[in-house]
Amino acid sequence: MQKHALSRREFSALALAAPVLLKGSQVSSQAARISIDPNRVIGQIDPQIYGNFLEHLGRCIEGGVFDEGSSLSDAEGFRRDVLKAVEDLHVSILRWPGGNFSSNYNWMDGIGPRDSRPRRLEMAWGTIESNRFGTHEFLDYTSKIGAEPYICANLGTGTWDEAQQWVEYVNFDGDTATTRLRKKNGRDKPWKVTYWGLGNEMDGPWQMGHRTADDYGKFALEAAKLMHWTDPSIKLVASGSSNYSSGVDWVGWNRTVLSYLKEHVDYLSLHLYVGNPENDYYEFQASTVGLANRIKITEGVIRNALWDAPRDKKIYIAWDEWNVWYRARNDSERGRRILEERYNLEDALVISSFLNTFVNHAHIVKIANMAQLVNVIAPIFTSKTGLFLQTIYYPLQLFASNSHGRALELVVESPTYNSKRLGPVPYLDVSAAYNDDGTLILNVTNRHREQSQDAVFELKSKHFNGDFQVFEVNGPDIKSENSFESTLVKTTTQKPIAPNGATLKCSFPAHSFTMLKGRLR
Ligand code: AHR
Repeated sequence: MQKHALSRREFSALALAAPVLLKGSQVSSQAARISIDPNRVIGQIDPQIYGNFLEHLGRCIEGGVFDEGSSLSDAEGFRRDVLKAVEDLHVSILRWPGGNFSSNYNWMDGIGPRDSRPRRLEMAWGTIESNRFGTHEFLDYTSKIGAEPYICANLGTGTWDEAQQWVEYVNFDGDTATTRLRKKNGRDKPWKVTYWGLGNEMDGPWQMGHRTADDYGKFALEAAKLMHWTDPSIKLVASGSSNYSSGVDWVGWNRTVLSYLKEHVDYLSLHLYVGNPENDYYEFQASTVGLANRIKITEGVIRNALWDAPRDKKIYIAWDEWNVWYRARNDSERGRRILEERYNLEDALVISSFLNTFVNHAHIVKIANMAQLVNVIAPIFTSKTGLFLQTIYYPLQLFASNSHGRALELVVESPTYNSKRLGPVPYLDVSAAYNDDGTLILNVTNRHREQSQDAVFELKSKHFNGDFQVFEVNGPDIKSENSFESTLVKTTTQKPIAPNGATLKCSFPAHSFTMLKGRLR
């Protein structure tokens, strides 16, 4: 979305004359100015941008959500403490079974009596897969937590038949050998799963069954036809870009894939993991500018693909893997305790910025899944006897619980810093959601490491209606982490702030994410 820059004179007229010095930090002398007009709508925020992901990987499922025999688990084997943390996170859509794992998964291995299921060599992550958590367990779990299930079919080593029969097993109501099998396994009525992925990261040479864009496009097209003919109501997700290595034509991948699949898919999947391996805080915080650029480029590719399509044909972006991931990323790492990234405050700020970016592109990003949910690059971290909530849990929880309705196109004028890779980056990263019930949510990340940032919000065409609640995610230091012993980074509720006429003034502490919640009339 275009942000309209104000002239220097207009802006300095608005800068606060005497900025308030907050305890423990300096304050930027130049106030940010943010104009809000509830009539300027980017798009409806799809609740499904607040999703997560479960993969058969490390301790995500076994030892995470599912721990048979543990005194903390229920009769089905689901950890009750994890369930509570997942419910509190308000996960809207849950993707499963992978990830790379899905590219060699035969769903038939994961049905029937648990004790009779085959143990298989798992080649994506180098373990033995017990198959004790399969289709029934996943769909029981999503129903317990009230999330939409999203199943990623195996388009790596799998066949068209396997993908088609999975849809039949899960969604078909008629009497066939496949649905009789489902009934024999204890499920009479179909679950009716809407969202199905046509493979995972098929652009990556690390993927089992990796293909060229043309080969993937042709193969996925046949799978899509059979899956749709089994249940025309399903929504299909094409495997888009995940490989942005230098020299890789990631845009070309999406263009080619859509040329085959545009009539059959509703979403194009994109993945992005970011990190701070060089310990450069400001470059790291700028990563989400790169995310926004990728969204814009892909939106153009989608528009191009649909140039001749009927007007009502839409394809959206499903950003179905995203997160910070760089520490626990040793390719030779194999086995059960892997990808157990421990997060700090600077990671949580990047997460809040990812979510701002999805909200600010609400018209085109309609699904997003933080990868993953438990233990593996995850907001929830368990041991055999308990769990703690990582820093990244808190911004996601605030967004998922509150940031709904229409995304508003804000005019943001904020002081900036210069990123070597991405140019000027505003210290304040902002998004807004306006709900039909009159609730206005303002999401503000202050990227400044040392200074508070003042901001003046100016409201157009409506009126503030009472004080704004203030929720802040922050901690003592950008490197502060949570652990089983202490929670240094979390959401705290601050003193409400009162609007003055059509303006709302607020000071955002250094390295913080703040959500302001109030009402308009
Ligand atoms: O989420 C971890 C892995 O990252 C997934 O299996 C894969 O899709 C991606 O490369």
